[in-house]
Amino acid sequence: MKIFIDTADLDEIKELASWGIIDGVTTNPTLVKKSGLSFNDIINEIFKIVDGPISLEVVSEKADDMIKEAKKLVSKVSDKFRKNVTIKIPMTPEGLKAVKKLKKEQIKTNVTLIFSANQALLAAKAGATYISPFIGRLDDIGQEGMQIIEEIMEIFYNYKIETEVIVASIRHPIHVIDAARLGADIATIPPGIIRKMVKHSLTDIGIKKFLADWEKVKK
Ligand code: G3P
Repeated sequence: MKIFIDTADLDEIKELASWGIIDGVTTNPTLVKKSGLSFNDIINEIFKIVDGPISLEVVSEKADDMIKEAKKLVSKVSDKFRKNVTIKIPMTPEGLKAVKKLKKEQIKTNVTLIFSANQALLAAKAGATYISPFIGRLDDIGQEGMQIIEEIMEIFYNYKIETEVIVASIRHPIHVIDAARLGADIATIPPGIIRKMVKHSLTDIGIKKFLADWEKVKK
């Protein structure tokens, strides 16, 4: 399973990319706001750090406006990084129209705010490169989010659908394990959760013990 980092925090992206585990980045307007940087500053830097798909979200509501915005975003990125630009489009009828047209222009899309297998199927039919089902937000309202990942993976497998599934709105490390067990293509994970994934108290205890023993025998 590929791991994308779900943040617009450049320091976190730099640090976690240096671990050699990051395949791509997803951002959204809320994450950009949290970073405290302007969208243009982020665009300029992010592509230099990670050589993989970088999702940038449009904020228009009409298909034609989404397409214009998408093209503007693509044009902001220097030629050598353009292959990595992925346009995040909301899961609406207008969004689907935009996805269809962007596919014709060979612009990659990531349909976001997916909360059901039916929405996933429609986004894939429209030609989405990626779809992002938000599992944590479903858990938040008392619906088992991972259930829709199971349904989507089964449907995509049945019909050999090439659209890749990005499990999004991940809230804890168990979500990541579940996503991987279900065969999801990608999990987009907030930095704090990646940091939890790397830790185990027995690893820390083990290192401490080895170091203490080494002190006693090193001479
Ligand atoms: O990638 C989507 C993700 O950013 C949404 O996460 O935690 O706002 O539901 P959350």
